[in-house]
Amino acid sequence: MNPARLRALATPLRAGVRAQLRAAAPRAVRTLVAPTTPASASVSEAHVVEEAVADVPGFKVSSKGGKIAGRPIYLDMQATTPMDPRVLDKMMPLFTEQYGNPHSRTHAYGWEAEEYVEEARENVAKLIGAGAKDIVFTSGATESNNMIIKGIANFHKSKKRHIITTQTEHKCVLDSCRFLSTQGFEITYLPVSQTGLISLDELKAALRPDTSLVSIMAVNNEIGVIQPLAEISQLLKAYAKEQGVTKPLFHTDAAQAVGKIAIDVEAMGIDALSISGHKIYGPKGVGAAYVRRRPRVRLEPLIHGGGQERGLRSGTVPAPIVAGLGEAARIATVEREADHAHVSKLSERLINGITSQVEHVVRNGDVNGYPGCVNLSFAYVEGESLLMALKDVALSSGSACTSASLEPSYVLRALGAADDMAHSSLRFGIGRFTTEAEIDMVIDRIVKVVTKLRDMSPLWEMVQEGIDISKIEWSGH
Ligand SMILES: Cc1ncc(COP(=O)(O)O)c(C=O)c1O
Repeated sequence: MNPARLRALATPLRAGVRAQLRAAAPRAVRTLVAPTTPASASVSEAHVVEEAVADVPGFKVSSKGGKIAGRPIYLDMQATTPMDPRVLDKMMPLFTEQYGNPHSRTHAYGWEAEEYVEEARENVAKLIGAGAKDIVFTSGATESNNMIIKGIANFHKSKKRHIITTQTEHKCVLDSCRFLSTQGFEITYLPVSQTGLISLDELKAALRPDTSLVSIMAVNNEIGVIQPLAEISQLLKAYAKEQGVTKPLFHTDAAQAVGKIAIDVEAMGIDALSISGHKIYGPKGVGAAYVRRRPRVRLEPLIHGGGQERGLRSGTVPAPIVAGLGEAARIATVEREADHAHVSKLSERLINGITSQVEHVVRNGDVNGYPGCVNLSFAYVEGESLLMALKDVALSSGSACTSASLEPSYVLRALGAADDMAHSSLRFGIGRFTTEAEIDMVIDRIVKVVTKLRDMSPLWEMVQEGIDISKIEWSGH
């Protein structure tokens, strides 16, 4: 990251916070860095740096005996993003002095906390082109998805019992739907093409007069594919008009989309949408649901109690983390385009850097997807060995460890990827604080590791000899 960008990130930290950070720093050299592993902090013999010191707690780096003992380079931004220092800065007073309950009506502590919450609501709304009153705070996108999908299904169940979603949704959408199917609802799971996109024709064919909800994610968390949200909503409107039925409601899980690509609920005709704080450089444990008020989207609440958040989500609103989410949303509104340009540049560098040096690499997903999510399969390399050999880079693989077996990702399977290609896939998640030096180091590591693993592979040897291994008939034992 260039120094100007770093400085811009560092300056908003309040003097008090800075003093605390300084006090926590054990070393004499105290340079404030953004919350990412600086390139110089990576575990690599090739990169020995004299004074690699990051003194933000949690991002400490030390050098011992000429070797850097540090934390891996973080390229797993779809799993979570580091919190922006400006977000922490916003939250701090609510943990220390302004700790009131935002629902307390009788004193200044309550009023000031409420002010933070309402400011956050405005900022979250602005990021997606909504009105502040349409926003309901939740604990994250899992809760928002559950609340919206089950809530809408239950509200309409006397007349409509059919829901449409896709095979490549996040587990919390799939499992909410699966739960509903045990309650007498019918679910259609739309397939996707080789690039991960749904077919509008298939969606149209799946619609029924008793379809209450269509839930299709905005950006996929494994392959970054962007679904055509505006076209989907237009199709739903046209279908309702044609058939003379009420329009099925349109929900999108936008956990990986907000702050990353332009989202405008009005222009895109979205009725309900899910947001997660920790995917947009905000805190964990907080999120939001956009539930349109005019015309009103009706849903049954999952949580009952004090009637907070329009009665849709009872419980004291956690003002500190909600203020953090609001600040993350405010920053994303201002910096989304710059972030996108930064991420695109690094994404291109990563893809070119790897594919120009390593052959038989397949990019999973759509080339027009979100550039910060790069999913690559390395043929003739075993995914787990790849990850094991890349201990100095924090990445996700296309295999999910479920119980005792290593299963290839259901998302990659839905694209029609062969099991071995799904097994050998890696997801590179690039974000606001990723640096060019980190990308270069990762390219270097990938090239070395893939080459080494292939050199040890009998399959690779056969490929080198020109044998078409897809034609081999393997005998079993
Ligand atoms: C697409 C998508 N939806 C939902 C979630 C769940 O978000 P949260 O961790 O806020 O519950 C995630 C996080 O992995 C996600 O990527």
